[in-house]
Amino acid sequence: MKGQAPYYTFYAERIKEEVNIPVISVGGIRDISALTKILNESSIDYFALSRPLVCESNLIKRWSEGNTEPSKCISCGKCSGFGKTICVFNRK
Ligand SMILES: Cc1cc2nc3c(=O)[nH]c(=O)nc-3n(C[C@H](O)[C@H](O)[C@H](O)COP(=O)(O)O)c2cc1C
Ligand code: SF4
Repeated sequence: MKGQAPYYTFYAERIKEEVNIPVISVGGIRDISALTKILNESSIDYFALSRPLVCESNLIKRWSEGNTEPSKCISCGKCSGFGKTICVFNRK
């Protein structure tokens, strides 16, 4: 997988063992193939994406239309904490 792996999967699964409500995991999801595998093999109900959608607002549409290249987000964090939320690599 390019880039980082989903990094809260382990904790989300532990939480799911203790609660009877849907659990949503977020963090490091960049690859739809890896995401599908986790979805099929874990008890986690939903996944959320943050920076990948800052990087590519059409990412879900792209994936759903068959272009399953991983997110272009490299998780540098430069879109967070500076007031304006924008991917520094997409600055026009
Ligand atoms: C611009 C930006 C703003 C965020 N604001 C919040 C926030 O207000 N509250 C929060 O709990 N997490 C916030 N986060 C963290 C995300 O919800 C998410 O947990 C984190 O970015 C990891 O997921 P990702 O790898 O999909 O980006 C923010 C992240 C970004 C990039
Ligand atoms: S600035 Fe960095 S972390 Fe933020 S969306 Fe762009 S590549 Fe991802």
